[in-house]
Parts: sequence; structure tokens; C-alpha cells
Amino acid sequence: MSRVDQVLACADNALRTLSGAYVASRSCPVASDGGAAELTPEQRRLSAALMRVNHVGEVCAQALYNAQSLTTDDAVLQRQFDAAAREESDHLAWTKRRLQELDDRTSLLNPLWYAGAFGIGLLAGRLGPGISLGFVAETERQVELHLQSHLDRMPAADHASRAIVQRMMEDEARHAADARAAGAADLPAPVKLAMRLAAKVMTRTAHHV
Ligand SMILES: [Fe+2]
Ligand SMILES: [Fe+2]
Repeated sequence: MSRVDQVLACADNALRTLSGAYVASRSCPVASDGGAAELTPEQRRLSAALMRVNHVGEVCAQALYNAQSLTTDDAVLQRQFDAAAREESDHLAWTKRRLQELDDRTSLLNPLWYAGAFGIGLLAGRLGPGISLGFVAETERQVELHLQSHLDRMPAADHASRAIVQRMMEDEARHAADARAAGAADLPAPVKLAMRLAAKVMTRTAHHV
């Protein structure tokens, strides 16, 4: 693809991510009980808040992978970023669908989250393949831990949400492993800390807004 095509593809992805015009290429993970369990209003609200946070995470994943794909000249790396982004768009579709089932909404601040993550992705991409992959590996590792914490907090009765989070966690672990195998650099501790703090601001806010 030429640079112009790449920029247009990126703009197309941003619009589809923010307008909700995406379809999953893999079917949504199904709960052992078919997702039929009745939730109390309180359980439903908690599950929805956690799924909204996860949906924001996936909006950011689209922005990060697309920005990093845009900034690399390495065709192999670009294919890896694009393949991961396709799996992330399944996550985006699954979390949005679950939010609708829970009768709740996605974050009102998604354009802001997307723009912020895209800027960070451009910066990481500019620092070269090792750092860019290191950033992917660390992001995916933190997301995996974060999803595990959601499984600990999510109502036990919400099998449908839990099945989705479980599958996402497996995918994120694979994305991290792929990035490490492709030559990810280990990021300095202060950078990892800054990433954790930025993620905390995002997750705290998206819980409510
Ligand atoms: Fe994801
Ligand atoms: Fe991922």
C-alpha cells in the first residue's frame, strides 16, 4: 500500500471504530449456560461498567495497532500489527454486543481515548521496531493482568461476560508472546509505570463515563 492508501485505511478504521460499524470475524465466545443467567440490577450495572472499560481498551487497541502499523516500513511487522488489530476488532464487537445485552452504553469519551492512544502509538512507532514491539508486549501484558482482575470482580453469575473476557485474555497473551518473539525490547521501568498510570486514568474514568 502507498502512504496515502495507508493513511486512508487508518482514517477508515478510526471512523469504523468510533461509529461502531465493525463486525466480528470470529463468533462471540458463548457461556456454558448460553448466557441465560438472570442478573440483579446491581450485578448488571457492575458487569456493564467493566465491559465498558474493556470496550474502551479495545478502542485504544485499534488506535495503537493502526498508528504503529502506519509508522513502520517493515512489511512483516506491519502484517503482524494488522493481524492483531483484526483480532482486537473481534474484541471490540464482542464487548459492544455484550454492553447492548446488558442494556448499557459505550464510553462517551471514545473519540478522546482513540486520539490519545493513536498519538502514543505514533510515538512508539517512531522509536523503531524494537521499542514499538516492546510497547505492544508491555501493553498486552498489562491488559492481560487487567482482564484477570475483571474476572475476579465480575459477578460469578454473568457467564456470558466472563466467557468473552476469558477469550480476550487468551488472545492478549498471544499478542504479547508474538511481540516478544518478533524482538520486543524490554522497556525502562519508568515507562512501564507511566503506562500503568495512564491505563488507570482511562479505566477509572470509563467505569462511569
Ligand atoms: Fe483486545
Ligand atoms: Fe491484544
